[in-house]
Amino acid sequence: MRTVEVPLGQRSYQIKIAPKLLPRLGVECRRLKLGARCAIITDSTVGPLYAKNALASLKEAGFDPALITVPAGETAKSIRNVERCYDQLAKHRLERKSFIVALGGGVVGDLAGFVAATYLRGIPFVQVPTTLLAQVDSSVGGKTGVNLKAGKNLVGAFHQPRLVLCDLDILRSLPQREFRAGLAEVIKYGIIYDTSLFARLERALPRLLRKQPAVLGSVIARCCEIKADVVGQDETESGLRAILNFGHTIGHALEAISSYGKYLHGEAISIGQVAAAKLSNALTGLPEADTKRITQLFKRAGLPTAVTLTAVQRKALFGAMRLDKKVSAGEVKFVLAQRIGKVVWGQRVPESEIVGVLTADGRR
Ligand SMILES: NC(=O)c1ccc[n+]([C@@H]2O[C@H](COP(=O)([O-])OP(=O)(O)OC[C@H]3O[C@@H](n4cnc5c(N)ncnc54)[C@H](O)[C@@H]3O)[C@@H](O)[C@H]2O)c1
Ligand SMILES: [Zn+2]
Repeated sequence: MRTVEVPLGQRSYQIKIAPKLLPRLGVECRRLKLGARCAIITDSTVGPLYAKNALASLKEAGFDPALITVPAGETAKSIRNVERCYDQLAKHRLERKSFIVALGGGVVGDLAGFVAATYLRGIPFVQVPTTLLAQVDSSVGGKTGVNLKAGKNLVGAFHQPRLVLCDLDILRSLPQREFRAGLAEVIKYGIIYDTSLFARLERALPRLLRKQPAVLGSVIARCCEIKADVVGQDETESGLRAILNFGHTIGHALEAISSYGKYLHGEAISIGQVAAAKLSNALTGLPEADTKRITQLFKRAGLPTAVTLTAVQRKALFGAMRLDKKVSAGEVKFVLAQRIGKVVWGQRVPESEIVGVLTADGRR
C-alpha cells in the first residue's frame, strides 16, 4: 500500500492507494475514532456496484451506516440534493461525531463533501474516490461544492476529508473514456511540476491505459503527492495553487460554450493544455520540442488536442473566458509553461494569440 500525507497542521490526513481497499473501509474508519452512526453518499451507477461491499465493511467494524443514493451525473451537484441529503442524515440521527463516506467520482465527492462541511456546521468525512479524476484531483485538497443555474461550483466550502482511500480495483469498471479523461489531469501534473513524471508517463502510457495496478498505483500516488504539496503551500488559493489550473482557462470556457455536453472535463482541458503549451511556446519560451512532446502525449492518450470553432463560437468562448471565476479585474490570466515541469502563473495573453493556437493547423 502507498500512503501520501497531506500536511495541513491539525487537519492533516492520509491518502491510501492500493488494490482491495474498499473491504478495509470499516477498519480504516475505526482508526479515526469517529461516532458509530454514519452515511454513505453514492450515485446510481457506483452504488449498485460497490455500496454493498462498503456497507458490509462498515457494519463489520461496528458502524451503523445509512445509504444515500443520488442520480449519476453532474446535475446531482445541486442545492436540492444537498437538502435531500440533510433530510436523510437527520432521519438517521447523525450527530457531531458521525461521519459521511463519499463513494463515487468527483460529483459525489463535491456534493458529499459540501454536505459534510455544512451539516451541524461540519462533520467529518472520508473520501472513497472511484474515478481516476477523483483519485488524482478532486478528492485531494478540500474543495467541496455544488452548482447553481448561473454556473458550476458557485456555492462551496473548504472542508478537508479525514482520510482518502483510492482502491485501484474500483477503476476497472470505469468506462475507458472516463479513464482517459482522468489521464488529462495526470499529464497536467507532469507539465506543471515534475519532468520525470512526464517522462515516466511517456514510457508507461500503454501499461497505464491497460490499468496495470503497479504503474497505476505509483502514478496516482505521485499525482496526489504533487497536489498535496501544492495545496499544503497554498490551501485557500491565494497564489501557487493557481498552477493546478494549467489548461483550464480555455478548458472551462470550452465546457461552458458546449453546455457541459460535448466534452468531458478531461477532454476540454486536454485541448486547453495543448493550446496553453502553444501559447507558452510563443510567450514564455517553452521549447518547440517540449510543445511537441506535450501534444503527442495527449494524442497517444486518446484525447482531443484541437477544436474547430465558428466565428460565433469563438466569440462565445472569449465571453465565457472572461466570466470564469479565475478572472480578476476583468483580465484573463493564464498559467504558462517555461519547460515541461515548470510553469508560471498570472500571465496576460492577447486574444489574437489564443485564436491561433486552438486549431490543429493553427500558428505555432
Ligand atoms: N473539488 C475539487 O477540487 C474538484 C477538482 C476537479 C473536479 N471536480 C469536480 O469533479 C466532478 C467530475 O468528477 P468525475 O470526472 O469523477 O465525474 P463523475 O463523478 O460524474 O463520474 C463520471 C461517471 O462515471 C461513473 N463512475 C464513477 N466511478 C465509476 C466506476 N468505478 N465504475 C463505473 N462507473 C463509475 C459515475 O457514475 C459518472 O456517471 C465535476 O463536478 C468537477 O467540478 C472537483
Ligand atoms: Zn481539472
